[in-house]
Amino acid sequence: MPFTANRQFKKAPRMFVAAKDMHYTTSDGRQVLDGTAGLWCVNAGHARPRIVEAIAKQAAELDYAPAFQMGHPKAFELANRIVDIAPQGLDHVLFTNSGSESVETALKVAIAYHRANGEGSRTRLIGRERGYHGVNFGGISVGGIVNNRKMFGTLLSGVDHLPHTHNLSKNAFSRGLPQHGVELADELERIVTLHDASTIAAVIVEPVAGSTGVLIPPPGYLQRLREITSKHGILLIFDEVITGYGRLGTPFAADYFGVTPDIMVTAKGLTNGVVPMGAVLVSAQIHDAFMNGPEHLIEFFHGYTYSGNPIASAAGLATLETYKEEHLFERGNELAPYWEEALHSLKGLPHVIDIRNIGLVGAIELEPIAGQPTKRAFAAFLKAYDAGLLIRTTGDIIALSPPLIIEKAQIDQIVGTLADILKTLE
Ligand SMILES: Cc1ncc(COP(=O)(O)O)c(C=O)c1O
Repeated sequence: MPFTANRQFKKAPRMFVAAKDMHYTTSDGRQVLDGTAGLWCVNAGHARPRIVEAIAKQAAELDYAPAFQMGHPKAFELANRIVDIAPQGLDHVLFTNSGSESVETALKVAIAYHRANGEGSRTRLIGRERGYHGVNFGGISVGGIVNNRKMFGTLLSGVDHLPHTHNLSKNAFSRGLPQHGVELADELERIVTLHDASTIAAVIVEPVAGSTGVLIPPPGYLQRLREITSKHGILLIFDEVITGYGRLGTPFAADYFGVTPDIMVTAKGLTNGVVPMGAVLVSAQIHDAFMNGPEHLIEFFHGYTYSGNPIASAAGLATLETYKEEHLFERGNELAPYWEEALHSLKGLPHVIDIRNIGLVGAIELEPIAGQPTKRAFAAFLKAYDAGLLIRTTGDIIALSPPLIIEKAQIDQIVGTLADILKTLE
């Protein structure tokens, strides 16, 4: 099983057999409140009628169309709808089937763009410590989670990393953006000086690092990365696989922070997690750099059998319509202050060393048991499941990201359940 303690699971399996709106049903017939939107993806809640109907209809109408040298209308329609809600200037879309594939696609676009532009020496990629960019070789190379990297050899060459921005000694219990650490963006200047800008293709960061435990940037940090990358002709890639499609109460984190990257990586919430799909957005400048040479030739040698799959496209269109019709991004934004207040009420409970929040994302960091990292948070995860609440843990951090349809009473339930659990943890 993926990212699972397999032996533990097989001894006591946790199985979901159904889901509706904010709840899962377990195989033993219990209701479990979804505190994590599945895996940060079910932003509109479960089994939403418009999405269910769109998938069924599409399967009957056009089940599959070849992705190479052929098209179908829904993929183009979806690309246009994504561009409609994307920051201005990101107006071309490449479809993939996951966040990991979106990351690989973005990294390849960046390197190939510079080559197409006559700057073939720009091949280096800069990621960040504690970054998560999926599990393929490019993603784990620019990523910064040691357990995801250490088993897999030398990875991609020519990769460097910015420092992460997490600083418990200065920023613990910040509400929203933490105040300290903007200067960490200047480390990019040091890396540029070390390698020379002429060798660097792109910098990739999650605007808010999710999977590593919700690391929120200080004010001005992303702006500074934007300034430094622009100054040196380096592409800035935002990995918005988690932050995209309303998670922060805006369509994308780029909108939340007022910083537009050159390439934006998305997946998850694009189809509400229902059908696997990712989308990479690029600027016209990047797109146009490839549009030369004889017209019968393929311009970019990349793509997947299922790029823009018809059923995924239909799911994506229905998902974006659901977000729009139900004003779910605005709803996330409106609920964010209540969410913040509720989460921070857990301060002072046993083992809690930090609480962080932004949009409808939260994290509660626990003091690890000495010599047994992750054990305390995993125990919290198991207890929460037994108590009818799905949370996610990474290291000793509890991460929360409920569907944007959550009600205030359900926020209270999440926090109340966690308070009870924290009091009983070893
Ligand atoms: C920021 C980010 N990038 C990439 C990925 C990888 O996405 P997937 O699991 O769909 O390959 C994730 C998954 O959590 C993610 O959070």
